[in-house]
Amino acid sequence: MIIAVDGYSSCGKSTLAKDLAQALDFTYIDSGAMYRAVTLYGLRNGVTVGKEEDIIPLLDNIKITFDKDAEGKQIILLNGEDVSKEIRGMEVSRSVSYYAKIKEVRCFLVAQQRNYAKNGSIVMDGRDIGTVVFPDAELKIFLTANQSIRAQRRYDEMRAKGKDVSMEEILENLRERDYIDENRKESPLRKASDAVVLDNSQLNRQEQLDVVLQKVHEIRNTT
Ligand code: DC
Repeated sequence: MIIAVDGYSSCGKSTLAKDLAQALDFTYIDSGAMYRAVTLYGLRNGVTVGKEEDIIPLLDNIKITFDKDAEGKQIILLNGEDVSKEIRGMEVSRSVSYYAKIKEVRCFLVAQQRNYAKNGSIVMDGRDIGTVVFPDAELKIFLTANQSIRAQRRYDEMRAKGKDVSMEEILENLRERDYIDENRKESPLRKASDAVVLDNSQLNRQEQLDVVLQKVHEIRNTT
């Protein structure tokens, strides 16, 4: 079974996807982390702001893998190095949507994302999972939440990690990413026609999980 979770930045997609994977014993794949890892590689290897397409000839040097740390938490490796923390920093967050616009970057990552489904059931979160990566996914969730609630959640998350960011910075980054994600030419963020829309502005973590588990239950009972 494939579950696709798409939606705007910072609306809790990865929390929902991780909770689902744990409850159902599926593999969780964070596709956004893969775009972030490519971005980090570009930033570290001389790709300058505004010339993100210079990453294209470097793609063959990038190997992205997922693993677990000593506590069983999923980590992402860029050419063998654990970059899970670094890809969440503001520098990568500011640049990633420019890299995610590039057709060659998307092709490179979509091919790898499709491979993960060959080894069993998965939950994957992102922007184009239900529309492009897995258009035949058995369950597609389109998660949304009010923009100010999303900004507050992101602010709390960054602060909890000890990052010195302002609310204005977070809001501006969120607005910019929403705009680019929705308006880019390649695989813009869209709700798949058969996706279930879930607005979690007023739902807590357990409530949103229960709604989706109920859907999974319904699907399993009808197939
Ligand atoms: O989910 P996230 O914020 O970690 O994603 C980082 C960026 O990558 C975001 O700007 C959108 C982009 N992205 C994408 O274009 N397609 C995906 N499947 C996942 C993420």
